[in-house]
Amino acid sequence: MNGLLKFITCGSVDDGKSTLIGHMLYDAKLIFTDQEESLVLDSKVGSRGGEIDYSLLLDGLMAEREQGITIDVAYRYFTTDKRSFIVADTPGHEEYTRNMAVGASFAELAVILVDASQGMLTQTRRHTRICSLMGIKHFVFAVNKMDLIDFDEKRFKKIKKTIKILLAEFDYESVKVIPVSATDGDNITSLSDRTPWYKGKSLLSYLETVDVQKSDNENGFTMPVQRVCRPDHTFRGFQGQIETGEISVGDEVVTLPSNEKAKVKSIIDAGKNVEFSEKGHAVTLQLDKEVDVSMGCVLVKDAKPEISNLFTAKILWMDDTKLVAGKNYMLKIGTKSIPAVVMKIKYKIGVNDGSELTANEIFKNEIAVCDISTSEKIVFDKFETNQALGSFILIDRISHMTSACGVVEHALRRSDNLTWHDMDISRDQRAAQKNQTPKTIWFTGLSGSGKSTIANEIEKRLFTEGYHTMTLDGDNVRLGLNKNLGFTESDRIENIRRVAEVSKLMNDAGIIVITSFVSPYRRDRVRAKEIIGYDNYIEVYVSTPLSECEKRDVKGLYKKARSGKIPNFTGISSPYEPPKKAHIVVDTSNLTIEEAADMVYDKIKTLL
Ligand code: ADX
Repeated sequence: MNGLLKFITCGSVDDGKSTLIGHMLYDAKLIFTDQEESLVLDSKVGSRGGEIDYSLLLDGLMAEREQGITIDVAYRYFTTDKRSFIVADTPGHEEYTRNMAVGASFAELAVILVDASQGMLTQTRRHTRICSLMGIKHFVFAVNKMDLIDFDEKRFKKIKKTIKILLAEFDYESVKVIPVSATDGDNITSLSDRTPWYKGKSLLSYLETVDVQKSDNENGFTMPVQRVCRPDHTFRGFQGQIETGEISVGDEVVTLPSNEKAKVKSIIDAGKNVEFSEKGHAVTLQLDKEVDVSMGCVLVKDAKPEISNLFTAKILWMDDTKLVAGKNYMLKIGTKSIPAVVMKIKYKIGVNDGSELTANEIFKNEIAVCDISTSEKIVFDKFETNQALGSFILIDRISHMTSACGVVEHALRRSDNLTWHDMDISRDQRAAQKNQTPKTIWFTGLSGSGKSTIANEIEKRLFTEGYHTMTLDGDNVRLGLNKNLGFTESDRIENIRRVAEVSKLMNDAGIIVITSFVSPYRRDRVRAKEIIGYDNYIEVYVSTPLSECEKRDVKGLYKKARSGKIPNFTGISSPYEPPKKAHIVVDTSNLTIEEAADMVYDKIKTLL
């Protein structure tokens, strides 16, 4: 036996992916008799005029899987005399990249289908690129539908040449190109006499013998901590999966990022005390002394992952909403989840030739290289050295959908030479001197909704009562500090980020800040709240509806926007995402300025 082979099949809807695997299972007698009978029966009414339609075998499984609705990848297990297999079958529909990426992240080898009558399509190149991105180093290209091109050796060779050219870009270890007919069964489980010129193995015998042992780039022991287990005060164990290397009782480990040393006192593996454990095992480690370790930390021995808050990564964008620089996500790497920002899109990768293309936006299914910063320093590694600490996903903070998956290319050290300098006079002291609690009162709403008018009233009242205040207003700030910013999504993100940082500085100075910005994106307001601090942020949503704002049109901007003279105008040609849980909501449609201000002021006074 050659051990287990985990592989993925990639192909577009009509490439014959299901037929190929179905035929392989059928010929290798890997299906049960009842399945075989129903296959013959189903095929009688199927699309192949009574011939067996092997794809039905997998489509049956697909239907089973669809009952689970959210399962995007089906894993099929089978065993021959020579090897056991797990194949990740990913449906070829529109959502394919997401599923493919999930499937590919588990696989050691990819079987990529190429339609012989069409050659290498953009889609095929994209599949190959995603597999490579997810770390697959072994490829089989099944050039299918050879029967449609009369088993023409010349055309096969031409396709083989384009495959080799494409692969030249990638860091792969093995590649095999096999001419097949999935429907007729040529070169699937045995060699076909219709391709006498083909001297290689059939697909199944190749899969049974291919060596996918990892060339060892990994060094040392790493275990991201999944859970700290404390059944009673005498025991404290760190649980997680060993991602690389091995560990023995008595070994010295280093805890990251806290950088403390401790010795392994005991190892529990599968419920038993053991002296030794290694990669792939889920274990509980007990250390000989107290260390500062929680979920998301990493225990290492003879390994030096990076500790930083900035890195360059290659990502596959999977979200329907495009990526623009400055957007904020949850990043999940190893066992750590942390807020992160895609700081900069460096370039996107041309799907056909791997070229570096300048881009300000990344759309679904595109691959790009970006700089990503996290809100704190985290432990990570290059993907080549450590797959677990080198691969991550970005999760949309509002919808909780996975927006991207990616791999770390290298750390950036820009922020390593900066350290926070603690000042002798603290925020609390400055606030105490003014005898107030500094807060930021954040007004959001459409242009013309009444934000600035109410903000102005509120400041007057606070000021009269002796508070030290400052108002930051959209139009005013944009005439100075943010002069260089326009109204594209990424400029608005930066606008709000700067205002949030300035508000925080002013709060640190002890001042009560009132801001009045459209701030149309929910995630940017969430980020502002994080910068300013949850306890210091009071959100006021001026919910005056668009129709009313447009009717007022104080600055004449709606009229211009309607006639197309202002692009990206909020409410007209750019979205406004209303807050779900603002502290205060006020609709000024039927209120006088006084009434609206009274209502807001009363509530603010309870929150200051
Ligand atoms: S934000 O979207 O980035 O928060 P901000 O509050 O700073 O916007 O600026 C909004 C003000 O700029 C509006 O009150 C309006 O006077 C003006 N403005 C000019 N162009 C636009 C636009 N395309 N969309 C919204 N407001 C605009």
